Amino acid sequence: MCGIVGVLGQHEAAPILVEALKRLEYRGYDSAGIATVNSGALGRRRAVGKLVNLSDLLVHDPLPGKSGIGHTRWATHGAPSVNNAHPHKAGPVAVVHNGIVENYRELRAELAEHGIGFETETDTETVALMTEHFLKSGLSPIEAAFKTIDRLQGAFALAFLFDGQDDLIVAARKGSPLAIGHGDSEMFVGSDAIALAPLTNKITYLEEGDRAVLTRTSLEIRNEAGELANREMRKIKLDHARADKGEHKHFMAKEIAEQPIVVAEAIRSYMPTGADQVVLPDTDLDFSKLDRLTMVACGTAFYACLTAKYWFEQLAKMPVEVDIASEFRYREPPITDRTLALFVSQSGETADTLAALRYCEGKADKIVSVVNVPESSIARESDVALPIHAGVEIGVASTKAFTCQLSVLLMLALKAAADRGTLSDEELADHAAALRGLPSVLNTALDQNRAIRKSAQRLSEARDVLFLGRGLMYPLAMEGALKLKEISYIHAEGYASGELKHGPIALIDKHMPVVVMAPRDAVFDKTVSNMQEVMARKGKVILVSDDDGIAEAEDGVWSTIRMPHIHPSLAPILYSVPAQLLAYHTAVAKGTDVDQPRNLAKSVTVE
Ligand code: M6R
Repeated sequence: MCGIVGVLGQHEAAPILVEALKRLEYRGYDSAGIATVNSGALGRRRAVGKLVNLSDLLVHDPLPGKSGIGHTRWATHGAPSVNNAHPHKAGPVAVVHNGIVENYRELRAELAEHGIGFETETDTETVALMTEHFLKSGLSPIEAAFKTIDRLQGAFALAFLFDGQDDLIVAARKGSPLAIGHGDSEMFVGSDAIALAPLTNKITYLEEGDRAVLTRTSLEIRNEAGELANREMRKIKLDHARADKGEHKHFMAKEIAEQPIVVAEAIRSYMPTGADQVVLPDTDLDFSKLDRLTMVACGTAFYACLTAKYWFEQLAKMPVEVDIASEFRYREPPITDRTLALFVSQSGETADTLAALRYCEGKADKIVSVVNVPESSIARESDVALPIHAGVEIGVASTKAFTCQLSVLLMLALKAAADRGTLSDEELADHAAALRGLPSVLNTALDQNRAIRKSAQRLSEARDVLFLGRGLMYPLAMEGALKLKEISYIHAEGYASGELKHGPIALIDKHMPVVVMAPRDAVFDKTVSNMQEVMARKGKVILVSDDDGIAEAEDGVWSTIRMPHIHPSLAPILYSVPAQLLAYHTAVAKGTDVDQPRNLAKSVTVE
């Protein structure tokens, strides 16, 4: 994880670096730091915790200079501390790093043989020390950086800054993304183009193994073999404005509230007004030619895939496998050329998902991704990238991206059903009509905010919470539990309702709240039986259902959350709202850091 930036500018670098780091803080917020070269002298400032602490430090202890590098950290090696914060400096070189140097122990041992000691617990310090070692042996800064990069194994995006060199940054990419921004006699480096959005829209993406030498007026890129490489400079459309919270207290609250609008946008872009058929732009994707779908993702995106499995199987009669990317990539699953490999990722930068995608290259019929960031690595490396149109999502807990992922995946399943002739025209039209009505139903669900806050107040006193669901509600039960644990730090698990009696029911007592997600659908009665089993053991049930479901099953429950009626296929999208709001209000009641919960980062770019 971590975010890195670099600037060779015409103005003071520190405020530019801090502003760019703000846009990268979603990658980690354990510490932040910058280094600059001022009249040839290399200096640095670092602070533990969020970026605001570094900003405060710079007010009292400014760091002048028009060239610099910066870093926001998600700790991998070594606790979050000033000492372990980047940039790491060894004599005349400072380095910022995103990724993991896997052979750092071996490199440390080698440096130790030369009598070189260490001040930090990080893998990155090794990079700085090794570069310094090569500089001492007489190599130039560029040669020393390149020779160091040659020795590194693992994943990295790196930027080097040198004492005495105020017009030079060396950068490198392997396994972690890196973008170079072109300004007017200025040059920039960033972990992603969004970090550079206010500075430039002219971006060159480094490719795997690339290393780059930047001055204010030149960019030279070499590939891993050391040959000069031509990388396209693109003009990209970027959202300059950093999203603000509007009237909301947290980004998460704002993003939950935005769902009717962004889901409408996602639906409109794949199901144009008046059409009952899904239209995928710029692709000849034909599901009738495919035998199987393999879906891979992490976290919330994985739960979106698990939901989509029900849709593809039920609507398109298509066999589907769903995998967690970190398992898939090392399992060596056989992929045939009649398999569609589908990757779902909000950020489009999740390291495990990207690695899984690369595993499928050359094996699957096509690589398709469902992403929120169209310029991301996963989007760029796919044959077909389908944007979800959720807009920038800042809250670490994914909300609107999830419902937009679900909407796009449902439309993809409908396209598969149309291609394979498994749904009639009327059935397709019925789904299309329900989808078009979804944004307004989401609005009605949001109106339940106050009732949900009341239930959350009670949840905030619990130590453990169970979420139950059956069929399409089962993946949502797991997503609801993930939301709750990541922002409120309450232990929560999601279970298939019918699975409870095979073990987890032993946990039920009068202290255990159990959230039951149960629209009045074909499996409602079964779910209610499982809910009765919970109540018979004094478990406290929060029943989330519609009018019919609540009328039938509310006797003896702790509280109810009322949802509008919905087409059964769309229920997981609608019921996401109470799951998200429950987690949100519980976290607010507990006073946790809702948008930036401890230990997490928005984009997980390490294994
Ligand atoms: O950017 P991605 O969708 O690939 O991220 C996947 C997960 O890291 C992400 O969904 C994570 O689980 C969220 N914190 C969940 O709210």
